[in-house]
Parts: sequence; C-alpha cells; structure tokens
Amino acid sequence: MPSSDVPSNWWRTAVIYEIYVRSFADGNGDGEGDLIGLRERLPYLRDLGVDAIWLTPFYRSPMVDGGYDVADYRDVDPLFGTLADFDAMLAAAHALDIRVIVDIVPNHTSSQHPWFTSALTAGPGSLERDRYIFRPASEEPPNDWESIFGGRAWTRTPDGEWYLHLFDPGQPDLNWDNADVRAEFESVLRFWLDRGVDGFRIDVAHGMVKEAGLPSVGHPQQIGLLGREPLPYFDQDGVHEIYRAWRKILDSYPGDRMAVAEAWASTPLRLARYVAPDELHQAFNFDFLAAPWSAAELRATIDACVEAADSVGAPTTWVLSNHDKARHVTRFGSPGIARAAALLMLALPGAAYLYQGEELGLPEVLDLPADARQDPVWHRSGGTDPGRDGCRVPLPWDASLPAYGFSTTGRSWLPQPDWASLAASSQQGVPSSFLELYRTALRLRRTFTGPLTWNDSPTDVLDFSRDGLRCVVNLSGAAVPLPTGSVVLASGDLPDGTLPPDTAVWLR
Ligand code: GLC
Repeated sequence: MPSSDVPSNWWRTAVIYEIYVRSFADGNGDGEGDLIGLRERLPYLRDLGVDAIWLTPFYRSPMVDGGYDVADYRDVDPLFGTLADFDAMLAAAHALDIRVIVDIVPNHTSSQHPWFTSALTAGPGSLERDRYIFRPASEEPPNDWESIFGGRAWTRTPDGEWYLHLFDPGQPDLNWDNADVRAEFESVLRFWLDRGVDGFRIDVAHGMVKEAGLPSVGHPQQIGLLGREPLPYFDQDGVHEIYRAWRKILDSYPGDRMAVAEAWASTPLRLARYVAPDELHQAFNFDFLAAPWSAAELRATIDACVEAADSVGAPTTWVLSNHDKARHVTRFGSPGIARAAALLMLALPGAAYLYQGEELGLPEVLDLPADARQDPVWHRSGGTDPGRDGCRVPLPWDASLPAYGFSTTGRSWLPQPDWASLAASSQQGVPSSFLELYRTALRLRRTFTGPLTWNDSPTDVLDFSRDGLRCVVNLSGAAVPLPTGSVVLASGDLPDGTLPPDTAVWLR
C-alpha cells in the first residue's frame, strides 16, 4: 500500500491502467517487455495520473497464451525478470503512490505445471488427475463443449483419457471440487499479498465451477470470450463460495486490498452477485465495452450497470479497451469518437480501466504478418480469426528511436507500424493530443463526486451532471448548441458555441 495513504476504498473511484507487460517497455533489449522496463516508465504513469496499475501475468509460463498459461504461480518468468525485479517495481510504484494489482489465473494451469505433468504420469483414477477434469477413455469426447479459442474443449492423453480445456490444450481446466486446488490458490493469494500487492484481477472468474455431470450444450458455436447465453461451464452458483473465502483472506490484510473479476454473466444482476459485499470488490463491465456508439444504447447500458452495482453497494467499472479486444479507435472507426468516448467514460461514477496505449490513441494493428502472430486464437481458427495480437503491439515511446524506444536495441516481439506521430514523445505537451486529453481528464476527474443525474437533452445527445461536472456528448449527426457553463475540457473543437457531432464536453 502506498505509505502516504490511509485506507479509503480507493478502488471505488480509481483509474486503473492495464499493463500488458510483454508490450509495455523492454528494459533488457531482448524485444520483450519486462519488469525492469516497466519500473523505468512508472514516472510516465504518475504524470498520466493513474491510481493503480494491473499487470497481466508475468509468472513462469511456456507462453502458449501470452502467460495466461501459468506453470508456477509463485515465480516470475525469466522473460519478464525475477522476483527481485518484481519487488523493486512494486516498491517504486508505491513510492509514486501507484497501487499494483496482479492477475490470478485460477480456471486453468499450464500443461507444463508440475500438477499436470504428474497427473499425466500418475494415470487414470489417480489423486493427481482429480485436480483436473479428466474423463475415461472413449471414442467420442465426454460432451460437446467447445474451446473458446476454437475447436473442441477436450484433448486425449496418450492413455486415451480426455481432459477439459476451455481455452488452449496447453491450459487444462482445474477441478475446483478438489480441496488441493482451493488450498493452493488461497496460498497463492497470500504469497502475493505478503509481498505487498494491492489486489488481484481474477481471470475467467465465472469459469471455475462447472455444472454437475458436465451436460452438453446442444449446439455448436457456443461462445466467444464474452457471451450472454447461460452455459454449463460459466457463471455457476458454486463459484460464489470461492469468492467468499477469498474475500476473508483479502480483508485479513491491512491496507484496503481488492479484487476485480473478469466475469461474464447473462445479465447485469447476475454479474452483480460477484460484487456482493462479502465477495469481490469489482467486476469488469463489458456491456459498456460492447455497446455501439449510440446514445440510446449507451444510456441504457449505463443505467442498467449503475442500477445493478447499486443493488449490492458496489461501484460500477467502465472499460473501453483491453488486451483481448480490438482497440476502440478502430472499433469506433474514428479517433474523434474514441476521444469523446474517453471523456464520457471518465465522467461516469465508479472506477475506470484504461488499457496501455489508449491514452496515445493507438489503433488496432490490422496488418501483422501471419508469421509474426502468436495468439492461439489465430492458430486454432486456422487463420480465419485474426486473434488479439493487433492490440498487443509494443508501445511507441519515442519517435526518434528504433522500435520507438520500446527496447534499448530496437527489437520488438511484434512489428510496430509507423507510429512516429503517435509516440508519447510526439504528443507530450501538445494540447490537442490524446495524451494531454487523458492527462487533463484524469486530473479533473478527481474533483467530480456523487451519482449521475440525466439532464433533458436533444435526441441522440447524452447530458448528465454530477457534483462538479456536467458532461454532454453529441452522438447525433448535427451540431447542437453548447449548454451554458464554463468549458473545462472538450474532446474536439467547439466552433461558434456549438457542440459538433461525435464530440464530448465537460462543463462547470
Ligand atoms: C482471459 C484473458 C485472456 C486469456 C483467457 C484465458 O479472458 O483476458 O487473455 O486468453 O482469459 O486465460
């Protein structure tokens, strides 16, 4: 916990910045981002004004799924550094008043995890196999479940048994009915809490418990990473008991530690169950990320999410981009809309999650060469789905350096496009830039408090007030008159007292 801070439910209003460690900053010149590189760039994050960072997995891993295939939950992969590098980074972040959240991957391990390799050796019926979801040898797989990355969710072992993997075959699902599994993750949480982390992001938090008997779904094309249909492998009631146990562990530590669920449920109210007072603190709000640029749809989404979170006393969260989704500049098809969307998100009550590079206005990289792509989604779909590498291209820091300063040697694990004009160095101090828009927005945001009230507005204009703020976003096709009040920030020009289409303004 940052020393200067008194515990205060900081996470309720925080801006939390996601760091895809491999692509953030490379400190040793091998073309792969690492913990030393991250530590060196912490002052940039302080200047940006974030409250916390969330690091994607940096644990020992064969990197089949970018580190979401963990072989040792208590060590740093040599690609990213050492435990000492982690401790140094954590101390440096805390010295800058930046909290640190780490990713926990409890639905599956890597197939290289010692538990899985010993399960394979120990054979059918063994205690070792009971930690995973094995089923007896048969011609056909045990049910029709599909891998979220494509293909079926079952793979055969050499002795003919099947094992379940909702993701890649290199990510076998754990059996959360097994007491070893529960005890191990409670111990892993304590390991990182003892080191001083401020919280956890829980990967696939809705996936750990499966419906008894593993019934078939009954149809193909079951789900992408984030879907809505109730499924026998997602959002089962039994998962909540796990989080009640985890919450007790978090609460037993000083300093306001928290956890945020990557969970997907069929309705906002089912999602709210993950953030009940005795469970987790937050859940990502993917409805907002998935909403189209439409005033009616955004307003309905905002209202539903605020209401659901209020029903359990939890803060809402907002997210526009992450390491699994196409960057929102590209999704919206326009940097101008992305700027307006950012001001909309950052004006809303609750916590906001930023994804590295969105403050630079980076677009999705659509033309990565096939041989550079690494995402299992690309490989398992036979190249029909481009996968998620396009939002994971290493950041451009300095327009004048090789690899835009991402690494000291100019190496980069994914090729970067011509990003000179988007590099942080090109935007720094330029008032009209993305970076300065985000910096100003994050600074002003701290002065807004209270819930949101909608104001009357023309069709397709979102207009709401909170204490200290009025936010107006024009999603219609024509300019509208600017409401009275003094403008403190705008996502674009405001010619002749009007608010042009696809523009947002903050007024006092
Ligand atoms: C989560 C992660 C994603 C990963 C998957 C499997 O959805 O965000 O990147 O591939 O879980 O662990």
